[in-house]
Amino acid sequence: MRIPLSNPDITQAEIDAVTAVLRTSRLSLGPELEAFEAELAAYHSLEHAVAVSSGTAGLHLALLVLGVGEGDQVILPSFSFVAVANVALQVRATPVFVEIDPLTLNLDPVAVEQAITPRTRAILAVDTFGVPAQMDALQAIAQRHGLALLEDACEAVGARFGDPPTACRAGSFGDLAVLGFYPNKQLTTGEGGAVLCRDAALAKRLRSLRNQGRNAEANPSAAAVQGSPESSAWLDHVEWGYNYRLSEMACALGRVQLRRLESMLALREAAARRYDALLAPIPGLERPPLALPRRSISWFVYVVRLPQHVDRDRVQSILTARGIATGRYFPPIHLQPAWQGHASAAVRLPLTEAIACRMIALPFFNRITADQQQEVAEALGEAILSSR
Ligand SMILES: Cc1ncc(COP(=O)(O)O)c(C=O)c1O
Repeated sequence: MRIPLSNPDITQAEIDAVTAVLRTSRLSLGPELEAFEAELAAYHSLEHAVAVSSGTAGLHLALLVLGVGEGDQVILPSFSFVAVANVALQVRATPVFVEIDPLTLNLDPVAVEQAITPRTRAILAVDTFGVPAQMDALQAIAQRHGLALLEDACEAVGARFGDPPTACRAGSFGDLAVLGFYPNKQLTTGEGGAVLCRDAALAKRLRSLRNQGRNAEANPSAAAVQGSPESSAWLDHVEWGYNYRLSEMACALGRVQLRRLESMLALREAAARRYDALLAPIPGLERPPLALPRRSISWFVYVVRLPQHVDRDRVQSILTARGIATGRYFPPIHLQPAWQGHASAAVRLPLTEAIACRMIALPFFNRITADQQQEVAEALGEAILSSR
């Protein structure tokens, strides 16, 4: 597409860092992993970060180490990426979809509390589109009912929740939190993710599970020593595990991206502000709020709500024909074909359904130009006019 929906921002520094790894003999479980994990933990003012092969892998391991399993219910939004529900199934739990707050598009704490049953084991709170969920309310609910709180910050690296100066970064609120580094994310490693936590025992177990249940020490350098087929421990497996490791090349890429994160987030915020001004004249089009109480946003995508009674498919095909990519962020999970017939999908979420069918994500990336944004805004205005 001439103007893509997303576009990773890779500079010579990333290319040099990955190339340097390729000139060594250590391509997995080495010093880049150790450094990336330490830097991610420090950035979030947390004790531990465990890098994994994707955000989905991180969510899966997080549910496992939180003890969520067969017979348990996990409360989560339907207005999200399908991975959040898939991982609940992966641990044989039942996803319980609940409504969202129409302004922040995050879990509605009142709906969460109403959905709690004796089988509820965890709340999976997503920081949707880089806007932190109502974490204080969700933490209080989790505490009141003895539930685990898992924060999915895959879309929100660098966001903050709380009143300054005590505001904390997205990813530091749940018992565990997960980041995602897919190429459309604010920080990319190609594929990748991380689980953030305070507890050394949980971090140790996460490191073991991502590495086929090997007996990795809490200290990643110890894991690195063991992380080679030459070590005597390589074929010792203390529990059933997975291959969710993240390569040294990916970690090197992620370290440079993390160093550049604040400047990349500033570019995204500037692009969001430009869209806001350019799209303001389109009647009935609802733009995302540029600011929200007690939150600083890490702009992941730029998603608008089309005016009522506009044919979204038609708008998308008009824009596609003009070389402008768009996305349907997000079709509700409980309405996805794969979920039809599943008990969790037999739920009515009128707010989620009414909002989701109007959503359209516009091209949004660090280096999008003002000219490109102007073209998108003009094309969108015309497409809406001819799709009523
Ligand atoms: C909210 C959310 N959770 C989880 C994921 C899964 O991340 P990954 O694609 O790295 O597995 C994503 C990815 O887009 C996401 O947006």
